[in-house]
Amino acid sequence: MSDQKRKLRSQAWFGTADKNGFMYRSWMKNQGFPAHQFDGKPVIGICNTWSELTPCNAHLRGVADRVKQGIYEAGGLPVEFPVFSNGESNLRPTAMMTRNLASMDVEEAIRGNPVDGVVLLVGCDKTTPALLMGAASCDVPAIVVSGGPMLNGYHKGKPVGSGTLVWRMNEQYNAGEISLDEFMAAEQSMSRSAGSCNTMGTASTMACMAESLGVTLPENAAIPAVDSRRYGLAHLSGMRAVEMVKEDLTLSKLLTREAFENAIRANAAIGGSTNAVIHLKAIAQRIGVDLTLDDWQTLGADVPTIVDLQPSGRFLMEEFYYAGGLPVVLRRLGELGLLHRGALTANGKLIWENVKDAPCHNDEVIRPLGNPLVASGGICILRGNLAPRGAVLKVSAATPELLKHRGRAVVFEDFKDYKARFADPDLDIDETSVMVLKNCGPKGYPGMAEVGNMGLPPKLLKRGITDLVRISDARMSGTAFGTVVLHVAPEAAEFGPLAAVRNGDIIELDARAGRLHLDIPDEELEARLAELRASTVAQPAGGYEGLYRRHVLQADEGCDFDFLVGCRGAAVPPHSH
Ligand code: FES
Ligand code: MG
Repeated sequence: MSDQKRKLRSQAWFGTADKNGFMYRSWMKNQGFPAHQFDGKPVIGICNTWSELTPCNAHLRGVADRVKQGIYEAGGLPVEFPVFSNGESNLRPTAMMTRNLASMDVEEAIRGNPVDGVVLLVGCDKTTPALLMGAASCDVPAIVVSGGPMLNGYHKGKPVGSGTLVWRMNEQYNAGEISLDEFMAAEQSMSRSAGSCNTMGTASTMACMAESLGVTLPENAAIPAVDSRRYGLAHLSGMRAVEMVKEDLTLSKLLTREAFENAIRANAAIGGSTNAVIHLKAIAQRIGVDLTLDDWQTLGADVPTIVDLQPSGRFLMEEFYYAGGLPVVLRRLGELGLLHRGALTANGKLIWENVKDAPCHNDEVIRPLGNPLVASGGICILRGNLAPRGAVLKVSAATPELLKHRGRAVVFEDFKDYKARFADPDLDIDETSVMVLKNCGPKGYPGMAEVGNMGLPPKLLKRGITDLVRISDARMSGTAFGTVVLHVAPEAAEFGPLAAVRNGDIIELDARAGRLHLDIPDEELEARLAELRASTVAQPAGGYEGLYRRHVLQADEGCDFDFLVGCRGAAVPPHSH
């Protein structure tokens, strides 16, 4: 093929007339592939996170079929393969714990197999970063196709959002405002079609991050899972994957520093999930782009949130798509001078070429820059003696009056302790208190559970109090809200200062100033930590959990495994026989 810039890896398997070539081809032929399929066509792997245990991705076999049609149409050979599917709703202790496992699976599957490029089929929260991390470590041509969000939920005639409804109804139930029957009836109303969470939760956020990074076709993030245009986009993405191989358009040409800067700003504009801070860092580290927590502050903090979606705002992903989706957001960022217009994207065009004429069909859903939902909506990075390596707070989901607050700590040693005591009528807590939750970080939980938005004590809810400053080393679901300080690093289980907080200590939060301070003398803090170090017995763990605990990095470093950081390329390994 004369238009082939990239030497096809697959030909190292299928392109020789010897014993090895015989074996590689012969076994593939048991699936009915005729001989001409191995004559030098680009082989495109369809890396599929389909699983009935990952309900958000359960429709991806159907999506894969459309990708295959596109690959065939463009003259490639599609080969679909499964990888570990880390679904948010079912996996315990957390889907985060297995994000790195999935990324290893993806990386080794790509490198070890006769594929020239990949289509990454993702959806549920962690599946997007996991596949991008794995593919980035191989640096092959790759394009992401998301499964798309669920249709709007409807409960009692009103639209309801995935996740966000659960948090709200749980509080209403705990406050005695709704019955158990009503609580249970909402389950089916919330999830009424295939797809991922329909709020601007982590799944939708990561789909928007992928589109902002330029590793998808335009509009990929928002098309509903069951909309026929989702299948059209899958077909076109398959076609494009073949072209990308021919053009040698590898991930490192898309995942540049500029692309990550675009993604950080887009996250602020969409009111995206705090989980993106961890995932973007992990992806950047795999491809060799330097990204720090401070970049979120410098680049994103002052960017207006213009997408009025739950949990920060009112609408859901269906409305976002009908309003024009992410291209409109990127166009508006570009008009503010907040987009690197020259970043290259998967369709071979610059991002600005893709979005400069994107029409907005609903200014309520995607607001004009002059009328934002939150003027400075980005994720705030906090530092101080309580979080020497940083913590994050999502301003658009917080109560403005609490962003500067000084209060008395009410400490829960771990999530079990919280569960056991938060509803106790005798708990010494009021609206000025600061709830502190320890040992929910990467190593502590393990897997950094999404419990940072711990529910308020019922006795406060019953008084109409709906928010309190909450601080932890945990994460929170992208569908959740509140004045919640997350990802405190180092975590309590690593003897970060969070471990030293005691009931009654005074804590100061000043989000705009980026400050998180525990008001005790330095010597006292050191003495408490030394005491803890001396009295803590390490918990042995085997299996994957043991590997995880030994190698996971802290939140500010993306929670990747230390040994997985970096790009190892996709050189063809030696034969196995
Ligand atoms: Fe899968 Fe929300 S649980 S996207
Ligand atoms: Mg989630």
